[in-house]
Amino acid sequence: MSMEDALVARLQHQRTWLVTGAAGFIGSHLVEALLRHGQAVVGLDNFSTGYRANLEEVHRAVGETAWRSFRFVEGDIRHMDDCRRAVEGCDFVLHQAALGSVPRSLQDPLCTHQSNVDGFLQMLIASRDAGVRRFVYAASSSTYGDHPALPKVEDNIGKPLSPYAVTKYVNELYAEVFARSYGQDSIGLRYFNVFGPRQDPRGAYAAVIPRWIEQLLQGEACHINGDGETSRDFCYVDNAVQANLLAALAQDSAASNQVYNVAVGDRTTLNELFALICGNLEALGIDVAESAPRYGEFRDGDVRHSQADIDKARRLLGYAPAYSAAQGLEATVRWFWQQRRQDNKVVNQ
Ligand SMILES: NC(=O)c1ccc[n+]([C@@H]2O[C@H](COP(=O)([O-])OP(=O)(O)OC[C@H]3O[C@@H](n4cnc5c(N)ncnc54)[C@H](O)[C@@H]3O)[C@@H](O)[C@H]2O)c1
Repeated sequence: MSMEDALVARLQHQRTWLVTGAAGFIGSHLVEALLRHGQAVVGLDNFSTGYRANLEEVHRAVGETAWRSFRFVEGDIRHMDDCRRAVEGCDFVLHQAALGSVPRSLQDPLCTHQSNVDGFLQMLIASRDAGVRRFVYAASSSTYGDHPALPKVEDNIGKPLSPYAVTKYVNELYAEVFARSYGQDSIGLRYFNVFGPRQDPRGAYAAVIPRWIEQLLQGEACHINGDGETSRDFCYVDNAVQANLLAALAQDSAASNQVYNVAVGDRTTLNELFALICGNLEALGIDVAESAPRYGEFRDGDVRHSQADIDKARRLLGYAPAYSAAQGLEATVRWFWQQRRQDNKVVNQ
């Protein structure tokens, strides 16, 4: 049975899911996938880094009938009333709302803490009180910190290298204690550099893939922090969606109250990434011949190499990433290119 068929079989009954951070990058993909599978979805977001346009795109993609099964709560996970309002009647929570970015957390650790730790704890309490069956949450590969081993295996973590990494590790600790103390079932997914359509290319804290694609489309110079040999396990967003659905629906008791790496299990350097993006743009007729990257300082808080061992997710969740980094990049570059063409059309009308 294909992965898609296995998920369809498990999603035969309609359940109600809360996706926090629904207007964000990963959250909006989760909402879209769940609505496509005929599920009822509640979205919670305060639009701090997410966009109404992401939800509008999901609306267009799933069509009117599926969209009627979506309820949106504009609210803040730092406010308990908003958490309770959103989670009422939900079977599962896919908790994505947080302030991402290592540099942002170094700039303003308190703000990151308030959404990522206080907000997380409130969502966990609200979920426990509402009788949620399983709380699946976005953890992070940053939890591996300064641990030198490659590939990264879930049990071997080092010291955190940023306030952001602290917040994501605290999430895991709270989830574990809530399982032990209150029997609240949860699963943490340590995402490794997730990328894809709708990832925000703007602002000082934009992730490298959408930022470079946008810059190349606009004919601007791209900057590489360090010598470009820094490497990451870049994970296309559909793989992360698959992991969330499998995690929520896993029935094996050994699978619950665990954390899992969510990645491809591969490694791409920044130099390779830049070449792949350029190659995809060239295939779409974009001239990037003059776009050599500019090299700068290494960035504070960054680890040199990151690559996941995904065996645990394979074994206990049945996770099988459907996209390699290169396949995901092709789809992502095409999406940004199409967006730009649509924007240009609107401007020229
Ligand atoms: N993208 C990655 O590579 C990656 C890697 C590791 C972990 N993560 C985690 O995955 C999750 C989703 O990340 P993303 O890349 O989609 O980021 P994103 O910024 O696009 O999405 C986060 C969403 O949460 C919302 N949000 C933030 N604070 C909130 C608050 N206090 N109340 C309500 N909503 C709030 C934002 O408005 C946004 O829509 C985050 O928890 C992030 O830390 C992402």
